Amino acid sequence: MATTAEEQAKLVETSKRLAAYQAVKDYLLPEYTRVGIGSGSTVVYVVDAIAALGPEVTSKMVFYPTGSQSEELIEAAGLNLQYISKLPAGQQLDVAFDGADEVDDDLNLIKGGGACLWQEKIVATSAKRFICVADFRKLSPRLGTAWKKGIPIEVLPMAAPRVLDELRRMGSQNPRIRPGLPGKAGATVTDNGMWIIDAPFAPLLLPKDTESGGQAGDGSNGLWAVDVLADALIKIPGVAEIGLFYGKNGLQVASGAQKPVAAYF
Ligand code: 5RP
Repeated sequence: MATTAEEQAKLVETSKRLAAYQAVKDYLLPEYTRVGIGSGSTVVYVVDAIAALGPEVTSKMVFYPTGSQSEELIEAAGLNLQYISKLPAGQQLDVAFDGADEVDDDLNLIKGGGACLWQEKIVATSAKRFICVADFRKLSPRLGTAWKKGIPIEVLPMAAPRVLDELRRMGSQNPRIRPGLPGKAGATVTDNGMWIIDAPFAPLLLPKDTESGGQAGDGSNGLWAVDVLADALIKIPGVAEIGLFYGKNGLQVASGAQKPVAAYF
């Protein structure tokens, strides 16, 4: 049944809120003390859901932001704020909650639509468990199908032209430096003083596409597997971090074999 844009927007907000409340109910255990908080509009509902648990539960917890937006959210909700730089070596967060721009069949993610991907990856990989909270629009069989803007890549500004050249050589279709917010001249500047390049690629292959004589996935025919592309992108000089969150590069190795868990509506 056709819906108006207004009805669709309402449905999306309801979906984000339900996913967030469900995720907090299922995955924020009362014994947890260290909690990572991601960025974006879905995370606003995550923080609402956490605050709704009340000080009895939340006063024993400390919340670690992934940038200025989540820092403000934590403070506005009256939750205890701490920085990931203060987490001692050898220790981990109990859990981190974050949103995503796209989630594929294997729960690999594109993140960085809000330009916070670098700190998000640091917090995600510092957590024993990473919970991705995503509404129904974010699910797609392969990354690059629903999210057409490209893979967000955080770069050193002086290296941006060289990184663009390399991305084009790798087959990215029209990679571009993300402009500033409307009314703001120049590029988007991240919380880390970097720029973002959005690099569209053809939908990214999964092991089920490349195994047993399937597609190569090495970029040779314009098609990349998620892990192969991630390994290649992170090696480009001037790239600080990439918005592909997947097992080997992002989550499994650094956090001790945790696959992202998605909570959907
Ligand atoms: C920010 C992110 C966000 O999690 C992602 O863009 C999703 O945002 P939203 O919840 O507003 O759809 O990665 O860098």
